[in-house]
Amino acid sequence: MTSERRFYLTTPIYYVNDKPHIGHAYTSLAADVLARWKRMTGHEVFFLTGTDEHGQKVEKAAEARGMDPQSFTDTVSHAFRDLAARMNYSNDAFIRTTEERHKAACAALWKTLEEKGEIYLGHYEGWYAVRDEAFYGPDEITEKDGQKFAPTGAPVEWVREPSYFFRLSNWQDRLLTFYEENPDFIAPVSRRNEVISFVRSGLSDLSISRTSFKWGVKVPGDEAHVMYVWLDALTNYITALGYPDEKAESWKFWPADIHFVGKDIVRFHAIFWPAFLMAAGLPTPKRVFAHGWWTNEGQKISKSLGNVIDPLALVEEFGLDAVRYFLLREVPFGQDGDFQRKALIGRLNGELADALGNLANRTLSLIQRNCGGLLPEPAAAQAEADRGFLAATGHGDAEGSPAWLAAKVDALLNEQKFDAALSLLFASIREANGYITREQPWALKKTDPERMVVVLRTLHDALRVFATLLWPFMPETMAKLLDQLGVPAEARGVDALATPLPGGIALPAPSPLFQKIQGEA
Ligand code: MSP
Repeated sequence: MTSERRFYLTTPIYYVNDKPHIGHAYTSLAADVLARWKRMTGHEVFFLTGTDEHGQKVEKAAEARGMDPQSFTDTVSHAFRDLAARMNYSNDAFIRTTEERHKAACAALWKTLEEKGEIYLGHYEGWYAVRDEAFYGPDEITEKDGQKFAPTGAPVEWVREPSYFFRLSNWQDRLLTFYEENPDFIAPVSRRNEVISFVRSGLSDLSISRTSFKWGVKVPGDEAHVMYVWLDALTNYITALGYPDEKAESWKFWPADIHFVGKDIVRFHAIFWPAFLMAAGLPTPKRVFAHGWWTNEGQKISKSLGNVIDPLALVEEFGLDAVRYFLLREVPFGQDGDFQRKALIGRLNGELADALGNLANRTLSLIQRNCGGLLPEPAAAQAEADRGFLAATGHGDAEGSPAWLAAKVDALLNEQKFDAALSLLFASIREANGYITREQPWALKKTDPERMVVVLRTLHDALRVFATLLWPFMPETMAKLLDQLGVPAEARGVDALATPLPGGIALPAPSPLFQKIQGEA
């Protein structure tokens, strides 16, 4: 397998002081869909997620519950594993920063940076926000009622302590050159511009150790210090591949093809992380994609407003795949979006249940009733009307054919345009609905049974394409549809679409794919 056929993608590792919310579910969902797509198109994939368990914030949260930090993180990190399982994420590994292998990786990276002269001991004095685990410059601070705040709204405190520093200031020019030479490194473009102008405005050396609390990875050779939680956290992306053992089986996946992050943490991933890696002489990741934030019915989501969206409650109410579909369909990935119940119900009822679910159900019920439940032979005698509806049957590169559709979806997903891929597929599904309405296969039974068979087979081929290409988004339901379509396991990939299924496959009785929500619209 050549390196181009390998694909490594990551989510942020999540702070364990919080219950999983829509933000966590969203970042990981995007990564899951891409991971599934890449596997389905022949890549060897490594998809990583996990939990970020060190830092003052976690130490304080544990203290507030009267627990020691290790038992606290052992308890709460489960919630994130459970979320991944319930959301049907196909992650290949789950990393926790409290694992010994991770501490060893952090120590190794630290030592390398030290040997290369990138670390020195000094004093840190300045504003620190525990909530963000970030330092802020004096010009970034605002004051309200005697309390000072970071631009993120997090309260800051004045910190003065001995600290090790990373020579970030040395990397300003090299970072700018790196961004220039790698125009796809930060996406979307608005974030890229933001990062570049931040770096241009000047980088100071970065404080990378703390002495005022204990819950972290100890600095090798000076155990009064723990590592800055972001240095610790970012290292997870290489720990999971076996770093510092570059002979480890998984090391071949480095550098990452894409780190998925939210817009709030782009600075850490697009500035600090490549600087640490370049300084250590390691290859840099290929891309950092920063998605936007959700609001809830027009309101900013916050614990104090009590409007945090629990993804599992949504799944309970609407079904897993409706939620997975909605989150990626509703808002262009990279932009902020508003979560509206009404919009979710509209898409579930209109797009999933009506456009796709009914199309499948009508087609499969007609095959049951009128073709003895056996898949008709590949449609040889297609009329103009069928050819006009190429999304169903074409096997070339003509617009609308499966190869064309798959290539379009592939191109869109390579740019992380999840909404555009879904919108393209649903435009094709609408075409199919137009076709069934025009051709009326139910009426053809009496007037032209041969033609009926051609139309049903054409529709079946189309449904197979839709189910295959939609599978990464809605794996459970699309697997159910592929079962109902009689598509054998080995014929479920994108490449297999080029080979028509043989006629005569016995199809099971169809059952509805999606449950509509009644009485609310
Ligand atoms: N621990 C760090 C990441 C370290 S990665 C080396 C962290 N953890 S977090 O738990 O706070 O991450 C939350 C993720 O959820 C981030 O990607 C963040 O952008 C995302 N979201 C939090 N609230 C969100 C919304 N309201 N909407 C969408 N995503 C949001 O940061």
